[in-house]
Amino acid sequence: MRAGLKTGIVGRELTCLDSTTSTQDVARELADKGSPDGTVVMALSQQAGRGRLGRSWFSPEGTLAASIVLKPPLRLLRLLPAISSLAVLRALKTFRIQAAIKWPNDVMIRGKKVCGILIENAFTAGKYDFSVVGIGINVNFDTGRYPEIAEIATSLSTELKREVLVSRVALHLFTELDKLYTRIHNSESIFREWARQMETLGHTIAVKSGEETIYGMAERLTPEGNLLLRLADGSTREVVAGDVTVLKESTNK
Ligand code: BTN
Repeated sequence: MRAGLKTGIVGRELTCLDSTTSTQDVARELADKGSPDGTVVMALSQQAGRGRLGRSWFSPEGTLAASIVLKPPLRLLRLLPAISSLAVLRALKTFRIQAAIKWPNDVMIRGKKVCGILIENAFTAGKYDFSVVGIGINVNFDTGRYPEIAEIATSLSTELKREVLVSRVALHLFTELDKLYTRIHNSESIFREWARQMETLGHTIAVKSGEETIYGMAERLTPEGNLLLRLADGSTREVVAGDVTVLKESTNK
């Protein structure tokens, strides 16, 4: 992997583990001890993988778990969901897989989730230190063997009907992330590409945000990456975090 990685920033320090609790914790420890921008920790399985909104993340063998320490300027922090989900999309494209983004940064193939992204930011006394971008991809695993997720999740091997090397997926992922991170200042074009790839826009959706479920038409993204909904009474509502379900397909994206 190391030999194949021709990146400038992402992967300049690389830790590969067979198994760990959560790569997020290992990466954070390294960053706390001064590891540089672009430090990567990857594992072939996790015992305590975590997902967004306080959920756990299933990481058996056959999945890729990677956490990348990134230190963008604070004003560009809002671009991390965009560059990380676009990097996954581009990496999957090298395997001829057409995927799409479900807001904020789930990666979907034909409506089923293949990858989840968790971004955790570290601050000391109110000052921004670094972010840890956690990316979990279902590579070689038969989702059919897990009835609790079979309807909502897929994997690369399920889609391709063959297994792929986890290290190849990782290599493409880090390469694409490096390209996007290097041009993170180009925020307008990154945002445009992100919106183009986001299947959520233009649909009538339900967003579960905390205890509340909000219904509306996903009109556009705000410059912060929040989702702007048009409600039935014509008013708008900005959503910062939540789980999206598409209720009605539409084409006026
Ligand atoms: C989600 O969709 O809820 C986000 C899932 C993020 C999972 C990845 S796997 C690598 C990293 N380590 C973790 O414990 N979580 C993230």
